[in-house]
Amino acid sequence: MKSMTLILLISLCVSMGRSDFAPCFYDNGAGSSNGNMGLFSISEDTSVGSHVYTLNGSDPEGEPVTYDMTFDKGSKEYFSVEPKSGNVTLIQTLDREVQDEIVAFVTITDGRNKVVENVRVFITDANDEKPEFLDLPLVVDVPEDAASGSSIYRVQAVDRDLGSGGSVTYYLQETFLHQLSFRLQSTPSTKFTIDGHSGALRIRSGESLDYEVSRTHFVTVVAKDGGGKYHGKYQVMTSTAIITINVLDTQDSPPVFVATPYFGFVYEVSVPGSEIFTVSAKDGDQNNPNTMHYSILSGSDGFFSINSTSGCISLTSFPVQLRNELYELQVKAAEVGADRFSDYSVTTVTVRVVDLNNHPPTFYDENGPQNCFELSMYEHPPEGEILRGLKITVNDSDQGANAKFRLLLVGPSRVLRVVPQTVLNEAQVTIIVENSSAIDYEKYQFLTFKLLAVEINTPERFSATAEIVINLLDTNDNIPKFSSEFYIARIPENSPGGSNLVSVTATDPDSGLWGEVKYSIYGSGADL
Ligand SMILES: *[C@@H]1O[C@H](CO)[C@@H](O)[C@H](O)[C@H]1NC(C)=O
Ligand SMILES: *[C@@H]1O[C@H](CO)[C@@H](O)[C@H](O)[C@H]1NC(C)=O
Ligand SMILES: *[C@@H]1O[C@H](CO)[C@@H](O)[C@H](O)[C@H]1NC(C)=O
Repeated sequence: MKSMTLILLISLCVSMGRSDFAPCFYDNGAGSSNGNMGLFSISEDTSVGSHVYTLNGSDPEGEPVTYDMTFDKGSKEYFSVEPKSGNVTLIQTLDREVQDEIVAFVTITDGRNKVVENVRVFITDANDEKPEFLDLPLVVDVPEDAASGSSIYRVQAVDRDLGSGGSVTYYLQETFLHQLSFRLQSTPSTKFTIDGHSGALRIRSGESLDYEVSRTHFVTVVAKDGGGKYHGKYQVMTSTAIITINVLDTQDSPPVFVATPYFGFVYEVSVPGSEIFTVSAKDGDQNNPNTMHYSILSGSDGFFSINSTSGCISLTSFPVQLRNELYELQVKAAEVGADRFSDYSVTTVTVRVVDLNNHPPTFYDENGPQNCFELSMYEHPPEGEILRGLKITVNDSDQGANAKFRLLLVGPSRVLRVVPQTVLNEAQVTIIVENSSAIDYEKYQFLTFKLLAVEINTPERFSATAEIVINLLDTNDNIPKFSSEFYIARIPENSPGGSNLVSVTATDPDSGLWGEVKYSIYGSGADL
């Protein structure tokens, strides 16, 4: 109960011998002002120097009285008293929030008798306090997926004034970012709202946060009191604070493939179902990771498949069916989460088909592997002519570098030549006449060559050899030749007819009929 405590040390106007009565303060009854400053209250915003009260009392004998006021030792002296008039002046600044009542001793004396009374003076509130924010600085960490409209923080400010002046409401203001000492992206406070009474800070409905767009928002919040009197005027007091809203990256980071780049190998011994490589991706949101769903987007040509849960890539065909040496698989890892398959990453898995070089080059004719090819042809074919009678195929069924080899023709030099000179995997072998005159039946009835296929880039240098035998057929390419360019014959005159004159010989190296020679003579006297 708020009541004045009045202690009368010598409170009654009693007789003090020789019928000299002590002076006393007027007492006008409860609810009215008393002359002793009892029941008095003073507003904390009262200016120093103000005349705030007049002590009032009298002496029964009508003697003039004087007044005084004292304070406990060590406590502040708030008032001074003008002894004759009893005028009380405020001499110290008041602050209800620090001290809300003053204990004083008021005295009245007629010169002989002194009456001291203990009084309490109450200090009443004025609206002199600003709302003060608690928990400064105001920093809020919000996951970027916080729901639109959700409450993310509760701002609290306290105003120590009483009543309306001590009530607090809140509102948001545009933030003046240029006042901040560091440069920031301007983020209008329209993303947020605050509940005026509770101070609950919310994401405005229809708005959302995005870590990738803005990691920090600054919002100015104003705390306002309900207003009250101060120095006779109505005043409202406010405080502002900046709320730093840190947006936390959450649940939307794409998966990350671990330990890239990825290389896998297919060996010749692989079979359908053989494991080639296992990819692994982790959710970028490490706190609450989702499981992964793997798939091959492209590049497999139907030869590879992936286990959607384990990330294991396996072969679906036999290696011999793989036409390329390299396959670049685009592999996707998607999160299985709330937003099904929305977050994903893609990586490349390079699969190399590894060949063991277990196939040497081999020559073939229409009937299969062959190491001897024979041909009959006439001598002196035209230069540049293809030996069409030879149907030679060469093949190395390894892959890539292992299937690359050179073709060589070994034999009488510069007679025939072979194309192509280098082969990848397979080629038709063509043999072309280079020097016609060297192909002469009269010199050789058959020609033999060795056709070589030698791997170029392999450590093994596998090779193949085939014999090429060319049986030459004669043509009538030689004219008969006399054994001498001229013959001299001497014969005695009158020799009888039928006498031998001279024997001439002509020969022709061609075979058969083309080599037979017939003689005849002509010229003057030939008829003899
Ligand atoms: C003192 O009190 C008396 C009696 O109530 C009153 O008549 C008088 O005016 C008062 N004096 C002052 C200065 O207030
Ligand atoms: C006491 O206060 C009254 C009222 O304000 C004033 O008229 C008077 O002059 C004062 N007396 C002295 C001695 O200051
Ligand atoms: C995928 O891998 C998981 C885990 O290794 C396994 O349990 C599952 O059987 C595999 N699925 C297929 C289709 O092979």
